Order: sequence, then structure tokens, then C-alpha cells
Amino acid sequence: MIIAQISDTHISIPPISGADREGDLARVIDDIHTRRKRPGLVIHTGDASNYGRAEEYAVLRRIMDTLDISWIVLPGNRDNRARMRDAFGDLPWMTGTGDAPLDFALEDFPVRIVAFDSKGPKTNKGWADHERLLALSALLEAGAGRPSVLAMHHPPFAMRYAKDPHQFAEWDQAEKLAAIVRRRACVKLVVTGHSHRLAESHIGNAPAFTMPSVATDLRKGEFKAALARHPAYMLYELDEAGDLIHHELRIVD
Ligand SMILES: [Fe+2]
Repeated sequence: MIIAQISDTHISIPPISGADREGDLARVIDDIHTRRKRPGLVIHTGDASNYGRAEEYAVLRRIMDTLDISWIVLPGNRDNRARMRDAFGDLPWMTGTGDAPLDFALEDFPVRIVAFDSKGPKTNKGWADHERLLALSALLEAGAGRPSVLAMHHPPFAMRYAKDPHQFAEWDQAEKLAAIVRRRACVKLVVTGHSHRLAESHIGNAPAFTMPSVATDLRKGEFKAALARHPAYMLYELDEAGDLIHHELRIVD
């Protein structure tokens, strides 16, 4: 199975001067459509909107609907769950009501996809208190050992070379979350956003990634000057057992 990951589109109404975040997302989608090995799913790991406004989700929806493959969006710290539910409520993966955490699993793909909501109540960083960790355990248990990809907004691993390596408000929450993942061999891959930069690690045997923002004006990390306005996304290829056999950061031409 091939999965494309996009993240941190930060669609903004009003638009940010000098940025073209809608264009960045549209160019990524066009590029996904040109892949000879076509992804089966696009995972958006959050911060879809900049201010959590209904108009921003309407724009995002219009652009995402141009995808001719399945897609999902997870909440990031910038997102508003209630407005996401309004905007995407007709889609099969959407669950819950109001501001309740938005977790779900997709069972109809060769690899199970588990979306975990790491948005906190009072912090821009990740959040996974006891109750949320119980929810994660339950989500993973429900897969009965099927190979799974865990997607969430905040990386639960330290980005050791970054200025602030710890993207959870309380780092022991991230450590407990990682321990839950480590105990379950079914988790084959962890994909996250939020950092706006490329970093990779491992949680147990599962490779774990965080990726550059699709919004090129917010991207961190070193890119050639000539590529400054070329948006990027991640591609992952998993074998039948769910093991990662290829990954790349694809920079749109
Ligand atoms: Fe974020």
C-alpha cells in the first residue's frame, strides 16, 4: 500500500500576504495524481486551517475534493474540531460531535489506519493525558493485531537537533504514548506533522516521521533557494505485512 502524507496546510482566510497556501496544497494534489505508483490514501496530519474558521475548511474541502483518491484530515492545534465536523461530517471517517477528540480507524485498506487526536485543551503542543491514552489503547486494541499506521498531529518522539525537541506539553505523556506503541507490534509506522520540518525516528520497531509543512511560507529546514516555493509531501510504501519498504520526501516540480 502506498500512502501520501500532507500536513500543516494552514489555509488562511484572509490569505497571508506573500503566501499561496491554497496553491501549495493544489500543487501537491496535482503531483500526487501524476505518481505512476498511485497512493491509495492521503493522510492530512493537521493544522489544516490557520485560525479554525469555517471559511478555511470550506476552501480546504474544495481543494481536497479534487483528489481522486480517499483522504482524511486529523485535527492539529490550530484546528477547530466542531468546524471540522461541520465541514467534513458527510465523509465516512468523521465521528463524534462538537469539540470532542476526533479519533477514528479506517479498516478498509490493506493496512489499518489509526487516527489519534493529540490536540490539547490549553496548549499548542501535544496532549495525551490518562483518558486520552486509554482511548489510544482502545483504538489500537480494536484492530486485533492487524498491521496499523498511527497518524497524529504532534510527534511523540524527541527531534533532538531542533531548538525545541519536545512537542508535547508534558513530556511524560509522550513517553507513555510511545510505550503504548512499543507494546503493540501491530503499529508499523507513525506519521506526524506540527514540526514543519522533516525528522525521523523510531518508536520500538516502528519508523516514525514528522514532515515539512505543505505551506511553503511556514516550512522549516534547509531547502535549496530555487525550491523555496515548491511544496513537499511524504510518500510511504508498505508491504503486505505493513512493513515500510520505501519512503521519500517528494518535492513538487
Ligand atoms: Fe501544529
